[in-house]
Amino acid sequence: MNVLVFDTIQEASQKAFEVFQEALANNAKVFGLATGSTPEALYEIMVNSDIDFTDSISVNLDEYYGLAGDHAQSYNYFMNEHLFNKKPFKANYLPDGTNTDSDAEVERYNKILAANPVDLQLLGIGGNGHIGFNEPGTDFNGHTQLVDLAPSTIEANKRFFASAEDVPSKAYSMGIASILESKQILLLAFGEGKAEAVKGMVEGPVTNELPASALQNHDNVIVIVDKAAASLLSK
Ligand code: GLP
Repeated sequence: MNVLVFDTIQEASQKAFEVFQEALANNAKVFGLATGSTPEALYEIMVNSDIDFTDSISVNLDEYYGLAGDHAQSYNYFMNEHLFNKKPFKANYLPDGTNTDSDAEVERYNKILAANPVDLQLLGIGGNGHIGFNEPGTDFNGHTQLVDLAPSTIEANKRFFASAEDVPSKAYSMGIASILESKQILLLAFGEGKAEAVKGMVEGPVTNELPASALQNHDNVIVIVDKAAASLLSK
């Protein structure tokens, strides 16, 4: 893992933007995208730049189960608001949170991923070490699946909802195996609340108790963090 530490989120996000530019220059066509507060500054930089995704395809990591794409807390809505409405792609794919036939939805999404192998996968990280919505205990061999959110994730994400009861308890998520199939991975983590997870991911044992540690098994991972998120790293 190539770990880069920056003083501010803005500088870190600028570097992340440059990784996208470089990937595009190297003919990357498919971008795996992520939601959450972490990539917001990166998406803003993209929106205010002349980067061109009109020949690119996006495939998102995850979506809440039960939320329609026009729900303000759905990841579909987030992506439209923060990126796609202002920076169009040739095609955008996200899991369909309204599909209650989970076998069919998993199959549909895995087919999309098989047809569109990801060149650059953007990731955030949960305070508990999750990537996508792959929670502690997840099977590293998993592809897209309907997952139960960990209580700590519901707690962390309730800030976006009226109450914890309003946070969906399940989500569709690419699996760890799906994530590891991408050619390059770019993980961003900002703030003290991520320091423990970042340390485990970079320096800890590879264990499904800390899903992001699976990234140690990939040979092209860039981790971009601010000083707070890097604060527990030993070097
Ligand atoms: C969410 C998402 C992840 C995201 C993480 C961190 O629940 N499923 O993809 O990386 O948690 O979120 P944030 O960036 O808001 O801290």
